Amino acid sequence: MATFPRISKSKQQKPTSSLILLLVSISAISIGLFWLFSSSSFPLSNNGAAAAKLLSSSKKKKGSDAADSVLEKKYLYWGDRIDCPGKHCASCEGLGHQESSLRCALEEALFLNRVFVMPSRMCINPIHNKKGILHHSGSETSEERWAASSCAMDSLYDLGLIFNTVPVILDNSKTWHRVFSTSLKLGERGIAHVEGTSRNYLKVNSLYSNVLLINRTASPLSW
Ligand SMILES: *[C@@H]1O[C@H](CO)[C@@H](O)[C@H](O)[C@H]1NC(C)=O
Repeated sequence: MATFPRISKSKQQKPTSSLILLLVSISAISIGLFWLFSSSSFPLSNNGAAAAKLLSSSKKKKGSDAADSVLEKKYLYWGDRIDCPGKHCASCEGLGHQESSLRCALEEALFLNRVFVMPSRMCINPIHNKKGILHHSGSETSEERWAASSCAMDSLYDLGLIFNTVPVILDNSKTWHRVFSTSLKLGERGIAHVEGTSRNYLKVNSLYSNVLLINRTASPLSW
C-alpha cells in the first residue's frame, strides 16, 4: 500500500515530466529562433540601408564620374568654426553654446535638404578643458591657440549616426574641396553668400534653392 501510490505517482510524473520537457524544448527553440531572428534582422535593417546607400553610391561612381554624384547634392556651409556665423569666429565659446549652434545648423541643413559642411574641429574652451590647454606664452598665433584647444569632430561625435539623419561632410574632406572649387567655377549657380536671408526664403526662392553651395557664414541670423 505504501509503495502503490509512489508507483502511481511516478507513473503520473512520467507523462507530466516529458510534457514539461517538450514544452521547455519548444520554448527554448522558439526563444533561440526569436533571438536569432531579432539579432540578425534589427541591426540588418540599419546596416542594410547603409550598405544599400554605399552600394548605390559606389555603383554611381562606377557608372559615371565620381564628381557627378558629389555634385548631384547641394551643400550648406556655416563657416569653419561651429559657432562662427555672425559672431564668434575668433573666440571659443562654451560647449553648450556650440552645441546649440551645431543643432541649429544641422536642423537648417535638414530643412533645406542640403548636405551640411561640418567644421572638422571644434574648440574646447579652457573653462571645460583646463588640462588640455597649453600655457599661454602670449607668443603663439591665434591659429596655434586654435590647434591646441580644438578637438577633431569625429573624436567628439558619432558622425555616422548623425549622417543617418542629416548628411554631413567634413570641411577637411576631399568632397568639400571638390564642391568648393566647383562652386567657384559655376559662378552664380555655384555659390550664394546669404546674409539676413530667412531659411524659408532660401528654400522657396529658386535663386537659392538651386545653387550648389549656400554660405551662411556672414549671416548674424543663422543661429
Ligand atoms: C563665406 O562667407 C564668408 C563671409 O562673407 C567669407 O569670409 C568666406 O570666405 C565664405 N566661405 C566660402 C566657403 O565661400
